[in-house]
Amino acid sequence: MIINNWSLEPMPYLEDRRMPGWIPVHLIRRDFPILSERINGKQLVWLDNAATTQKPNCVINRLADFYRYENSNVHRGAHTLAARATDAYEDARKAAARFLHAKDSSEIVFVRGTTEAINLAARTYGSRQIGFGDELIITNLEHHANIVPWQQLCEEREAFLRVAPVDDTGQIILEEYEKLFCRRTKLVALTHVSNALGTVAPVKEMIRIAHSHGVKVLVDGAQAVSHLPVDVQDLDCDFYAFSGHKIYGPTGIGVLYGKGELLRELPPYQGGGNMIADVTFEKTRYQEAPARFEAGTGSIGDAAALGAALNYVDSIGMDRIARYEHELTEYAMKRLMTVPNLTPVGTAEAKTSILSFVIKNIPNETVGKALNEEGIAVRTGHHCAQPILRRFGLESTVRPSLAFYNTKEEIDQLVSVLARISRSCTV
Ligand code: ALA
Repeated sequence: MIINNWSLEPMPYLEDRRMPGWIPVHLIRRDFPILSERINGKQLVWLDNAATTQKPNCVINRLADFYRYENSNVHRGAHTLAARATDAYEDARKAAARFLHAKDSSEIVFVRGTTEAINLAARTYGSRQIGFGDELIITNLEHHANIVPWQQLCEEREAFLRVAPVDDTGQIILEEYEKLFCRRTKLVALTHVSNALGTVAPVKEMIRIAHSHGVKVLVDGAQAVSHLPVDVQDLDCDFYAFSGHKIYGPTGIGVLYGKGELLRELPPYQGGGNMIADVTFEKTRYQEAPARFEAGTGSIGDAAALGAALNYVDSIGMDRIARYEHELTEYAMKRLMTVPNLTPVGTAEAKTSILSFVIKNIPNETVGKALNEEGIAVRTGHHCAQPILRRFGLESTVRPSLAFYNTKEEIDQLVSVLARISRSCTV
């Protein structure tokens, strides 16, 4: 069976284009088998989408089909299965390029996830550019994955990390950001959407400002890609990183986009098989990008399944998903405000899908456990973003996070359990 020309099953329920913001959510939910699970005797309510998203059948089937019909390493010439696996891998690269609106699929490097993508950029572009006394700008919103690799580099090079502050809503203060630039600034690394607050950063403007100072920009898109349409050419970012598992794909696969002219100049990240053009004991010549950044055997099946996930969201339409989630986020924020003693954390006007909060005098873990008793999954803790929580005087929050398969009914369930917990702890 040849399935390299694999495509989505038709989704007739999406043909109604008269309502561009409309998502047939109850039909879409049927694509995600895990959403029918029962937890503690209750219907699962999955509100931990910022940690990972659930997978539609087309992704699950794509992964299984890869191992059923195509499994091989990617060395096209050797035999038929190798050709199928190579096609699957490269088709996924094309899907990622299309999804990000990259100029060319050679600008897509497959990595394990956003963390590896940022480490790759730090160890290649960063190592080349950052020297003694140089400066890098990040923001107060960053996930640890977009802090630690730069911190490590700065320690090594005796360089400095500058941090753009946020206001009390959790939005970056653009004037303060701009003041951080000086002639030693070599790179900006910033999140597109905060995983702890949901703030959508004004990335396009921030990139414009950085470029006006001659500085390149890496965008951490881990929390953005599943919620907003991303166009790397329109943003004009130099690097853009995301993880497959945050956008309905498998774990263990992600993407680093880099502008072609930048990737061409960069040294390899790791050495090994697949990334070489020629090896002697004296010298190794490397492949062109992206192969030179993909040492060893990649996650071929996972890449194919990521391609399926990206085609799936594309077929629904990121604009449509963004509009639906915007409405759901606004509804959820309003409903949460009705819970006694609840304080939302992260109230920027530009905000998506993350609903962090604390309830006075109730530990966050207690809230999380009580929700789990009712089948509602949320994350509690520091969300790998301690600096931004500390900006608000907190060590942790309760963090429900939305996807386009969530419903207003689920928000109502969440709010009703929270109201009960809050009331029972105040009497
Ligand atoms: N970065 C993931 C989160 O925000 C794990 O939960």
